[in-house]
Amino acid sequence: MAGEARDIKLRIDNVKKVFDGRGGEMVALNGVSMDILDNEFICVVGPSGCGKSTLLNIIAGLSEPTSGAVYCNGKEVQGTGTERGVVFQQYALFPWLTVRKNVMFALEMRGVKGKEAQEEAMTYLKMVDLEKFADHYPKELSGGMKQRVAIARAYAAKPEVLLMDEPFGALDAQTRTQLQTELIATWEKEKKTCFFITHDVDEAILLAQRVVIMSARPGRIKEIVPIDIPHPRNQETKMTPRFMELKNHIWGQVYQEYLEVRK
Ligand SMILES: Nc1ncnc2c1ncn2[C@@H]1O[C@H](COP(=O)(O)OP(=O)(O)O)[C@@H](O)[C@H]1O
Ligand SMILES: [Mg+2]
Repeated sequence: MAGEARDIKLRIDNVKKVFDGRGGEMVALNGVSMDILDNEFICVVGPSGCGKSTLLNIIAGLSEPTSGAVYCNGKEVQGTGTERGVVFQQYALFPWLTVRKNVMFALEMRGVKGKEAQEEAMTYLKMVDLEKFADHYPKELSGGMKQRVAIARAYAAKPEVLLMDEPFGALDAQTRTQLQTELIATWEKEKKTCFFITHDVDEAILLAQRVVIMSARPGRIKEIVPIDIPHPRNQETKMTPRFMELKNHIWGQVYQEYLEVRK
Protein backbone atom coordinates (compact mmCIF):
# COMPACT_ATOMS: atom_id res chain seq x y z
CA MET A 1 0.00 0.00 0.00
CA ALA A 2 1.23 3.47 -0.80
CA GLY A 3 2.40 5.12 2.41
CA GLU A 4 1.38 8.51 1.03
CA ALA A 5 -2.26 7.54 0.63
CA ARG A 6 -4.52 9.98 2.47
CA ASP A 7 -6.78 8.58 5.12
CA ILE A 8 -10.41 7.97 4.38
CA LYS A 9 -12.45 10.13 6.72
CA LEU A 10 -15.95 9.19 5.62
CA ARG A 11 -17.10 6.10 3.82
CA ILE A 12 -20.59 6.11 2.36
CA ASP A 13 -21.33 2.48 1.65
CA ASN A 14 -24.25 1.55 -0.59
CA VAL A 15 -26.72 3.81 1.19
CA LYS A 16 -30.39 3.43 0.42
CA LYS A 17 -33.16 5.49 1.97
CA VAL A 18 -36.85 4.75 1.52
CA PHE A 19 -39.55 7.05 2.92
CA ASP A 20 -43.12 5.96 3.51
CA GLY A 21 -45.03 8.61 1.66
CA ARG A 22 -48.74 9.05 1.06
CA GLY A 23 -48.42 7.53 -2.39
CA GLY A 24 -46.55 4.51 -0.96
CA GLU A 25 -42.82 3.99 -0.68
CA MET A 26 -40.52 6.69 -2.00
CA VAL A 27 -36.91 5.78 -2.73
CA ALA A 28 -34.97 8.96 -1.91
CA LEU A 29 -31.48 7.46 -2.25
CA ASN A 30 -30.30 4.26 -3.86
CA GLY A 31 -26.84 2.72 -4.08
CA VAL A 32 -24.93 5.78 -2.94
CA SER A 33 -21.28 4.96 -2.29
CA MET A 34 -18.22 7.15 -2.03
CA ASP A 35 -15.11 7.65 0.06
CA ILE A 36 -14.22 11.11 1.33
CA LEU A 37 -10.63 11.73 2.27
CA ASP A 38 -9.29 13.47 5.33
CA ASN A 39 -9.17 17.26 4.73
CA GLU A 40 -11.14 16.99 1.51
CA PHE A 41 -13.71 19.61 0.56
CA ILE A 42 -16.64 17.93 -1.19
CA CYS A 43 -19.50 19.87 -2.76
CA VAL A 44 -22.75 18.19 -3.72
CA VAL A 45 -25.01 19.57 -6.45
CA GLY A 46 -28.20 18.23 -7.99
CA PRO A 47 -31.81 19.19 -8.60
CA SER A 48 -34.11 19.96 -5.72
CA GLY A 49 -35.52 16.79 -4.18
CA CYS A 50 -32.72 14.49 -5.38
CA GLY A 51 -31.80 13.50 -1.83
CA LYS A 52 -28.90 15.81 -0.95
CA SER A 53 -30.24 16.75 2.48
CA THR A 54 -31.30 13.16 3.12
CA LEU A 55 -27.70 12.06 2.53
CA LEU A 56 -26.27 14.81 4.75
CA ASN A 57 -28.69 13.93 7.54
CA ILE A 58 -27.62 10.29 7.35
CA ILE A 59 -23.93 11.29 7.57
CA ALA A 60 -24.79 13.57 10.51
CA GLY A 61 -26.57 10.67 12.21
CA LEU A 62 -29.85 12.58 12.32
CA SER A 63 -31.48 9.97 10.10
CA GLU A 64 -30.81 6.25 9.55
CA PRO A 65 -30.27 4.62 6.19
CA THR A 66 -32.82 1.96 5.22
CA SER A 67 -29.85 -0.16 4.17
CA GLY A 68 -26.14 0.42 3.78
CA ALA A 69 -24.06 2.43 6.22
CA VAL A 70 -21.84 5.44 6.73
CA TYR A 71 -18.47 5.11 8.46
CA CYS A 72 -16.52 7.95 10.06
CA ASN A 73 -12.89 7.09 10.89
CA GLY A 74 -13.80 3.49 10.11
CA LYS A 75 -16.55 3.39 12.73
CA GLU A 76 -20.18 3.00 11.73
CA VAL A 77 -22.18 6.19 12.29
CA GLN A 78 -24.98 5.67 14.79
CA GLY A 79 -26.56 8.91 15.89
CA THR A 80 -24.87 12.27 16.10
CA GLY A 81 -21.33 12.73 17.33
CA THR A 82 -19.08 15.66 18.24
CA GLU A 83 -16.64 14.70 15.48
CA ARG A 84 -19.35 15.71 12.95
CA GLY A 85 -20.55 19.33 13.07
CA VAL A 86 -23.55 20.56 11.09
CA VAL A 87 -24.46 23.98 9.67
CA PHE A 88 -27.96 24.31 8.20
CA GLN A 89 -29.41 26.94 5.90
CA GLN A 90 -31.24 28.57 8.78
CA TYR A 91 -29.03 28.01 11.74
CA ALA A 92 -30.68 28.40 15.11
CA LEU A 93 -28.43 30.49 17.29
CA PHE A 94 -29.48 30.80 20.91
CA PRO A 95 -31.39 34.11 20.85
CA TRP A 96 -30.90 34.72 24.58
CA LEU A 97 -27.10 34.51 24.33
CA THR A 98 -24.77 37.14 22.88
CA VAL A 99 -22.70 36.33 19.80
CA ARG A 100 -19.66 35.61 21.96
CA LYS A 101 -21.64 33.38 24.32
CA ASN A 102 -23.09 31.47 21.38
CA VAL A 103 -19.54 30.62 20.30
CA MET A 104 -18.46 29.98 23.90
CA PHE A 105 -21.23 27.40 24.17
CA ALA A 106 -19.43 25.24 21.60
CA LEU A 107 -16.14 25.73 23.43
CA GLU A 108 -17.65 24.76 26.78
CA MET A 109 -18.95 21.55 25.18
CA ARG A 110 -15.28 20.79 24.52
CA GLY A 111 -14.33 21.56 28.12
CA VAL A 112 -12.82 25.01 27.47
CA LYS A 113 -14.03 27.26 30.29
CA GLY A 114 -13.96 30.77 31.73
CA LYS A 115 -11.46 33.33 30.50
CA GLU A 116 -9.89 30.87 28.11
CA ALA A 117 -13.27 30.27 26.44
CA GLN A 118 -13.85 34.04 26.22
CA GLU A 119 -10.53 34.56 24.46
CA GLU A 120 -10.84 31.58 22.16
CA ALA A 121 -14.34 32.70 21.16
CA MET A 122 -12.84 35.97 19.98
CA THR A 123 -10.36 34.11 17.77
CA TYR A 124 -13.24 32.39 15.98
CA LEU A 125 -15.21 35.63 15.73
CA LYS A 126 -12.17 37.31 14.16
CA MET A 127 -12.04 34.50 11.64
CA VAL A 128 -15.49 35.57 10.37
CA ASP A 129 -14.80 39.26 10.89
CA LEU A 130 -17.34 39.72 13.68
CA GLU A 131 -15.24 40.56 16.72
CA LYS A 132 -16.91 43.99 16.91
CA PHE A 133 -20.27 42.30 17.36
CA ALA A 134 -19.25 39.97 20.19
CA ASP A 135 -21.64 41.53 22.68
CA HIS A 136 -24.60 41.85 20.33
CA TYR A 137 -27.58 39.51 20.38
CA PRO A 138 -28.52 37.48 17.27
CA LYS A 139 -31.63 39.58 16.64
CA GLU A 140 -29.39 42.64 16.15
CA LEU A 141 -27.55 40.96 13.26
CA SER A 142 -28.33 40.55 9.55
CA GLY A 143 -28.91 37.08 8.08
CA GLY A 144 -25.37 36.95 6.72
CA MET A 145 -23.88 37.89 10.08
CA LYS A 146 -25.96 35.27 11.88
CA GLN A 147 -24.72 32.67 9.44
CA ARG A 148 -21.13 33.78 10.12
CA VAL A 149 -21.72 33.28 13.84
CA ALA A 150 -23.10 29.83 13.07
CA ILE A 151 -19.95 29.02 11.09
CA ALA A 152 -17.69 30.39 13.85
CA ARG A 153 -19.58 28.27 16.35
CA ALA A 154 -19.29 25.19 14.15
CA TYR A 155 -15.52 25.70 13.87
CA ALA A 156 -15.22 26.38 17.60
CA ALA A 157 -16.67 22.94 18.29
CA LYS A 158 -13.61 21.60 16.38
CA PRO A 159 -15.40 18.81 14.56
CA GLU A 160 -13.27 16.64 12.31
CA VAL A 161 -15.97 16.81 9.65
CA LEU A 162 -18.10 19.83 8.81
CA LEU A 163 -21.46 19.09 7.16
CA MET A 164 -23.11 22.12 5.56
CA ASP A 165 -26.54 22.08 3.95
CA GLU A 166 -26.87 25.12 1.65
CA PRO A 167 -25.47 27.37 4.38
CA PHE A 168 -25.43 30.42 2.10
CA GLY A 169 -28.66 29.59 0.26
CA ALA A 170 -30.82 32.19 1.98
CA LEU A 171 -28.34 35.07 1.61
CA ASP A 172 -28.07 37.83 -0.97
CA ALA A 173 -25.43 37.46 -3.69
CA GLN A 174 -22.97 39.92 -2.18
CA THR A 175 -23.03 38.38 1.30
CA ARG A 176 -22.77 34.93 -0.21
CA THR A 177 -19.68 35.96 -2.18
CA GLN A 178 -18.09 37.35 0.97
CA LEU A 179 -18.81 34.20 2.98
CA GLN A 180 -17.45 32.00 0.18
CA THR A 181 -14.20 33.94 0.28
CA GLU A 182 -14.02 33.59 4.06
CA LEU A 183 -14.76 29.89 3.88
CA ILE A 184 -12.03 29.21 1.29
CA ALA A 185 -9.49 31.18 3.32
CA THR A 186 -10.49 29.30 6.46
CA TRP A 187 -10.24 25.94 4.75
CA GLU A 188 -6.85 26.84 3.28
CA LYS A 189 -5.60 27.69 6.79
CA GLU A 190 -7.36 25.12 8.90
CA LYS A 191 -7.95 22.16 6.60
CA LYS A 192 -10.98 20.15 7.55
CA THR A 193 -13.12 17.54 5.88
CA CYS A 194 -16.14 19.38 4.48
CA PHE A 195 -19.33 18.05 2.93
CA PHE A 196 -21.11 21.06 1.49
CA ILE A 197 -24.45 21.06 -0.34
CA THR A 198 -25.26 23.88 -2.72
CA HIS A 199 -27.44 24.54 -5.75
CA ASP A 200 -24.90 27.09 -7.00
CA VAL A 201 -22.47 25.46 -9.46
CA ASP A 202 -20.03 28.41 -9.23
CA GLU A 203 -19.93 28.07 -5.46
CA ALA A 204 -19.33 24.33 -5.74
CA ILE A 205 -16.35 24.70 -8.11
CA LEU A 206 -14.84 27.56 -6.14
CA LEU A 207 -14.88 25.63 -2.86
CA ALA A 208 -14.50 21.97 -3.73
CA GLN A 209 -11.72 19.57 -4.44
CA ARG A 210 -14.37 17.25 -5.89
CA VAL A 211 -17.91 18.05 -6.97
CA VAL A 212 -20.49 15.29 -6.63
CA ILE A 213 -23.33 15.55 -9.15
CA MET A 214 -26.47 13.76 -7.99
CA SER A 215 -29.18 12.48 -10.26
CA ALA A 216 -32.86 12.67 -9.60
CA ARG A 217 -35.32 9.91 -8.72
CA PRO A 218 -33.98 8.04 -6.92
CA GLY A 219 -30.95 10.02 -5.78
CA ARG A 220 -27.76 8.43 -7.03
CA ILE A 221 -24.27 9.70 -7.72
CA LYS A 222 -24.20 10.59 -11.39
CA GLU A 223 -20.63 11.81 -11.61
CA ILE A 224 -17.76 12.94 -9.40
CA VAL A 225 -15.74 15.76 -10.96
CA PRO A 226 -12.25 16.48 -9.58
CA ILE A 227 -11.61 20.24 -9.46
CA ASP A 228 -8.02 20.61 -10.57
CA ILE A 229 -7.78 24.35 -9.85
CA PRO A 230 -4.92 25.09 -7.45
CA HIS A 231 -5.27 26.98 -4.16
CA PRO A 232 -5.26 29.74 -3.07
CA ARG A 233 -8.52 30.50 -4.83
CA ASN A 234 -10.57 33.66 -4.73
CA GLN A 235 -13.46 35.25 -6.61
CA GLU A 236 -11.17 35.95 -9.60
CA THR A 237 -10.74 32.21 -9.98
CA LYS A 238 -14.24 32.29 -11.48
CA MET A 239 -12.87 34.18 -14.51
CA THR A 240 -10.25 31.58 -15.46
CA PRO A 241 -10.71 29.39 -18.55
CA ARG A 242 -10.47 26.17 -16.53
CA PHE A 243 -13.23 27.36 -14.21
CA MET A 244 -15.48 28.15 -17.19
CA GLU A 245 -14.78 24.75 -18.69
CA LEU A 246 -15.67 22.92 -15.47
CA LYS A 247 -18.73 25.10 -15.04
CA ASN A 248 -19.98 24.28 -18.52
CA HIS A 249 -19.56 20.59 -17.92
CA ILE A 250 -21.12 20.45 -14.45
CA TRP A 251 -23.93 22.82 -15.31
CA GLY A 252 -24.78 20.70 -18.36
CA GLN A 253 -24.94 17.55 -16.25
CA VAL A 254 -27.09 19.18 -13.58
CA TYR A 255 -29.38 20.68 -16.20
CA GLN A 256 -30.04 17.24 -17.68
CA GLU A 257 -31.24 16.16 -14.24
CA TYR A 258 -33.49 19.21 -13.91
CA LEU A 259 -35.11 18.16 -17.16
CA GLU A 260 -35.57 14.63 -15.79
CA VAL A 261 -37.38 16.01 -12.75
CA ARG A 262 -39.70 18.09 -14.90
CA LYS A 263 -40.69 15.17 -17.17
N1 LIG B 1 -38.92 12.91 6.35
C1 LIG B 1 -39.34 12.68 5.12
N2 LIG B 1 -40.47 11.95 4.89
C2 LIG B 1 -40.87 11.69 3.63
N3 LIG B 1 -40.24 12.10 2.53
C3 LIG B 1 -39.12 12.83 2.68
C4 LIG B 1 -38.61 13.16 3.98
N4 LIG B 1 -37.47 13.89 3.82
C5 LIG B 1 -37.30 14.02 2.50
N5 LIG B 1 -38.27 13.38 1.82
C6 LIG B 1 -38.37 13.28 0.35
O1 LIG B 1 -37.15 12.73 -0.15
C7 LIG B 1 -36.74 13.37 -1.33
C8 LIG B 1 -35.37 13.96 -1.15
O2 LIG B 1 -35.47 15.06 -0.27
P1 LIG B 1 -34.21 15.95 0.14
O3 LIG B 1 -33.13 15.06 0.61
O4 LIG B 1 -34.69 16.99 1.07
O5 LIG B 1 -33.80 16.61 -1.26
P2 LIG B 1 -32.79 17.81 -1.59
O6 LIG B 1 -32.10 18.21 -0.33
O7 LIG B 1 -31.87 17.26 -2.64
O8 LIG B 1 -33.63 18.91 -2.15
C9 LIG B 1 -37.82 14.39 -1.66
O9 LIG B 1 -38.71 13.84 -2.58
C10 LIG B 1 -38.49 14.63 -0.33
O10 LIG B 1 -39.82 15.01 -0.50
MG1 LIG C 1 -32.04 20.03 0.72
